[in-house]
Amino acid sequence: MPLVLLILILSVFTFSVFLLKIVFPPWNFPRNIPTIPFYTVFLPSILKIDQIELYETYIKESLEKHGAVKIFFGSRWNILVSRPEYLTQIFRDENTFAKSGNQKKIPHSVLAAYTGDNVISAHGEVWRTYRTIMTTPLQQFDDTPFQKNAKLFCKLIEKQVSPHSSVVDVSVSPLIQKLTLDNISQVLLGFDFGTLTQDSVPLHQKLTEIKRQIFHPLFLTFPFLDRLPIPERQKSFREVENFRNILVNKVQEELIKNYQFEQTKFASSELIKAFNNNIINYKQLSDNIVILLVAGHENPQLLLTTLLYLLAKYSGTWQNDIYEEVVKITNYDDLSNAVTLNAFIFEAIRFYPPLNTIINRCTTKTCRLGNDITIPKNVYVGYNNYYATHDKRFWGSTADEFDPRRWGTDMDTMMKQWRRHKTDSSMTSFHGGKRACLGEKMALVEMRVTLWELLKRYKFTLSPNWKEQFTPAGPLCPVNLQLNFQDRTRDEFEIIPNSSA
Ligand code: HEM
Repeated sequence: MPLVLLILILSVFTFSVFLLKIVFPPWNFPRNIPTIPFYTVFLPSILKIDQIELYETYIKESLEKHGAVKIFFGSRWNILVSRPEYLTQIFRDENTFAKSGNQKKIPHSVLAAYTGDNVISAHGEVWRTYRTIMTTPLQQFDDTPFQKNAKLFCKLIEKQVSPHSSVVDVSVSPLIQKLTLDNISQVLLGFDFGTLTQDSVPLHQKLTEIKRQIFHPLFLTFPFLDRLPIPERQKSFREVENFRNILVNKVQEELIKNYQFEQTKFASSELIKAFNNNIINYKQLSDNIVILLVAGHENPQLLLTTLLYLLAKYSGTWQNDIYEEVVKITNYDDLSNAVTLNAFIFEAIRFYPPLNTIINRCTTKTCRLGNDITIPKNVYVGYNNYYATHDKRFWGSTADEFDPRRWGTDMDTMMKQWRRHKTDSSMTSFHGGKRACLGEKMALVEMRVTLWELLKRYKFTLSPNWKEQFTPAGPLCPVNLQLNFQDRTRDEFEIIPNSSA
């Protein structure tokens, strides 16, 4: 047989195997749950729909009926679970459904090079070590930067909507990113990113650039492509490494320079102490500093965007009511008792869970989910928060309505409900059980303080030019949100954005 023909046959064979692996789930996957067609994952890009529309149209029925489905995502077939009873089982049995983050799932990808092996993705003894180091500083922190930064955030809005500006609609997403970056760097890492006070910050520019490369849809869907010698991706690896080094050096230098290293309880100084005591190595130090920055700013960024969207959408009702409540508050410690504000935040977290789909558990043995779904060893199992938090069996017939009143009229009732829904896994936005989010308290304080400062200063509505759309996959929040602001502190309470009109 001529060599060319042989190569052709081999190529066709390899390609067919590759295609079959994408189109059909592995033969040993459970047969008694539905398969979501492989092309579904590409529909948001093709049809320009967001993940809510995608789920409503293509996935909801199967998930509601079976509580779990087979789904293609991240170059592989996974099992996606939404039924709270199944989630409780997964969260309780960490040994069988073991955390297995990007460093294990897609070890050769740019994404894995960025976040490495960290407290969110590690398993077993390594995770326990990280968690022991970080629990206290993530639970007991100095929250004063939140208030100062919320005021700076209002100043940035003011700059854009001043009477001399020609801005009509304010794109709030970049401003929110600045706020959450400065917040987390000051509260957890011991330095100031400086994006709220400086026009151009090189570290911020680097971060924006590497995020653009990491979240490239093609490489996110097919991370194995990062194994190929593609010059553009090799450059991405180098840039990610460079960013990590600069960040860790900055953290170390700032803490030492300010003599804060031994005296303070920043999460970063606890990590550095553990490194100096040989409890973790340099790579583990870097991986965890990076994840504190990533989870610490991106997740609050998602939630704050959603909150502003919902407040703008309900500007005549909920926004007014919350304003009336918080304008009377003079001490920010009292915000945790503001019933309407907190009910609104809880409902936003339920309605649009910021981290919607998370696929980072891998079975360590053949096991059974519920009574009859048998899952083989080494299968990735993930969860979808949106359906857990909209399950009518747990949230009643109004589950699909945005209604903060469902949480109750006093803080005691609200907190009891919050805990109950977390325990029965119908509120998984911060995840329950042993692997619960360590930043929940911090994120809630950050939201309350920011909304308090913002609402005292501005009334805002959705821009008529903004097309209502959410992100296409994974993290969930409105895309490129644009708002119109009215300054409450002005005599005439005029509509500033239209000053140029
Ligand atoms: C709105 C904001 C936030 C949301 C919705 C959120 C959500 C979550 C979720 C769903 C998990 C579990 C992930 C999984 O199952 O793999 C998690 C874990 C975690 N989060 Fe958050 N998070 C938020 C803010 C933060 C902040 C500000 C920090 C601070 C750095 C943080 C630190 C962590 C850590 C360290 C874990 C890992 C806990 C462990 O496995 O031991 N989060 N978060």
